[in-house]
Amino acid sequence: MQFSRGFNPFVLLFCLAVVVPTISADVAILRTDYYRKTCPDFHKIVREAVTTKQVQQPTTAAGTLRLFFHDCFLEGCDASVLIATNSFNKAERDDDLNDSLPGDAFDIVTRIKTALELSCPGVVSCADILAQATRDLVTMVGGPYFEVKLGRKDGFESKAHKVRGNVPMANQTVPDIHGIFKKNGFTLREMVALSGAHTIGFSHCKEFADRLYGSKADKEINPRFAAALKDLCKNHTVDDTIAAFNDVMTPGKFDNMYFKNLKRGLGLLASDHILIKDNSTKPFVDLYATNETAFFEDFARAMEKLGTVGVKGDKEGEVRPNRVANSLIRDSCKKASKNSEPHYFKFCIASISENPESQQVKNIDELIGVGVKNAISNMTNVKGIVEKMLKERKYTSKLSEKMLRVCVKLYSEGTNLLTKCLGYIKLRDFDKLHNTIRHARVVPRECEMGFNDDNKQKSPVTKENDVLFDTVDIAQSFNYYAHVNPDN
Ligand SMILES: *[C@@H]1O[C@H](CO)[C@@H](O)[C@H](O)[C@H]1NC(C)=O
Ligand SMILES: *[C@@H]1O[C@H](CO)[C@@H](O)[C@H](O)[C@H]1NC(C)=O
Ligand SMILES: *[C@@H]1O[C@H](CO)[C@@H](O)[C@H](O)[C@H]1NC(C)=O
Ligand SMILES: *[C@@H]1O[C@H](CO)[C@@H](O)[C@H](O)[C@H]1NC(C)=O
Ligand SMILES: *[C@@H]1O[C@H](CO)[C@@H](O)[C@H](O)[C@H]1NC(C)=O
Ligand SMILES: *[C@@H]1O[C@H](CO)[C@@H](O)[C@H](O)[C@H]1NC(C)=O
Repeated sequence: MQFSRGFNPFVLLFCLAVVVPTISADVAILRTDYYRKTCPDFHKIVREAVTTKQVQQPTTAAGTLRLFFHDCFLEGCDASVLIATNSFNKAERDDDLNDSLPGDAFDIVTRIKTALELSCPGVVSCADILAQATRDLVTMVGGPYFEVKLGRKDGFESKAHKVRGNVPMANQTVPDIHGIFKKNGFTLREMVALSGAHTIGFSHCKEFADRLYGSKADKEINPRFAAALKDLCKNHTVDDTIAAFNDVMTPGKFDNMYFKNLKRGLGLLASDHILIKDNSTKPFVDLYATNETAFFEDFARAMEKLGTVGVKGDKEGEVRPNRVANSLIRDSCKKASKNSEPHYFKFCIASISENPESQQVKNIDELIGVGVKNAISNMTNVKGIVEKMLKERKYTSKLSEKMLRVCVKLYSEGTNLLTKCLGYIKLRDFDKLHNTIRHARVVPRECEMGFNDDNKQKSPVTKENDVLFDTVDIAQSFNYYAHVNPDN
């Protein structure tokens, strides 16, 4: 049995929709080819982003699926769950019951939105991004393919108080939980199929601890499973990040193992286990446990339906405007690249967006800070590469070795200079900042020059130095056009 701790958990909390969704005209406007003309690369951009992210962070699929459910069951699939709290309003995502909303899922939507804003600004809603990303991720981890109809608009509102009291607890009964599903238009069978989402992801100990300890401990839980969970969770009251896989047998694979587990007492949450205990849901569990095709077909259909819950049209929603950060990045990179080669703009966007901090910036000075931090990390990385070459004696001559040692020294000096730059930003001393980045910027060139000057030695890090130069140059240009010569 495998367990994991400290991960973003994944508890499938289904939230009650406040407005009972009906088949309205809004549903009819959804089409799979909605962006064919206005954003032809939509599918490709989403697919590429989720593939990269899922490889980096394997919990993304479960987290995104969870976020999508949460969004659709609360005020409809309108990306209201993504709205941030401000001083006037506490948003859904900041309700106390959010503790399982996974950061990686927010991150993937942000990444895709950033990429789309470059390709087709102001066209694609966050609600559609979340729906499409969820489908791509589910299929990536082995789940069924289903159609995603597009054209949702993003909601204007997100209220934390609407979460509370509308989220089924793990200790609720089948009729209670079904009541919530029914309000969103789902049958008992569809509820069981959607619960199969727990074939991937994690849950925090506090969600199931009452099944393990004390006089009320659940005797139907598999004894070896219970013992392992008890051991895993014994510190959960002091460390609330400890989490267990929802599907203990094949935690990362979307399959029908969740239902097979239920039959063996390996259901993690009480709300999982009741599906096999309750006579009204048991036949569906039995069916899905023995017939994966039946589960996949039902799950796919239920997901298509889920994507239409409470969908908003033009009057009730909008394509949420690009965040401050995205337009700032775009504008700054545009300016920075106006006297450069065509690839520079794309490189600038990619390089800045690679750093998640770039999504939090509120003004140009913070963006310059991100540029400088990227330059520091890039220079540190290149230094590491050269040090490794030296250690492994991967140089062609004594002379080349000497040059590489000079480069290491240069990188150290450059990193120190760049670190000072962070201080100058704080002090708003932009002239000093300008002169200091300029010195750091020549470091990769000086490193290369050593090789060229010295009897035709070939630098093994030309490519790295070129990228490094451009990376430092981004910070330099941002500052130049913002502060040193804003009218240029
Ligand atoms: C959940 O809410 C808390 C405040 O109650 C907030 O600090 C935290 O960032 C929220 N989590 C997510 C994923 O938004
Ligand atoms: C269910 O759990 C919640 C907290 O998770 C608790 O407040 C509530 O009393 C429980 N309900 C029952 C019927 O045990
Ligand atoms: C629980 O905490 C104790 C003391 O802090 C520590 O020694 C022990 O290793 C922890 N157990 C687990 C399973 O993490
Ligand atoms: C469930 O069905 C079984 C067998 O048909 C029966 O023995 C049991 O009493 C039923 N349980 C409930 C709670 O209806
Ligand atoms: C499994 O379910 C599928 C879809 O409902 C059905 O076509 C197939 O006959 C079932 N297989 C078995 C062995 O019952
Ligand atoms: C330097 O930064 C660029 C752009 O962010 C990135 O593509 C490249 O991999 C980085 N190189 C190193 C060695 O960190």
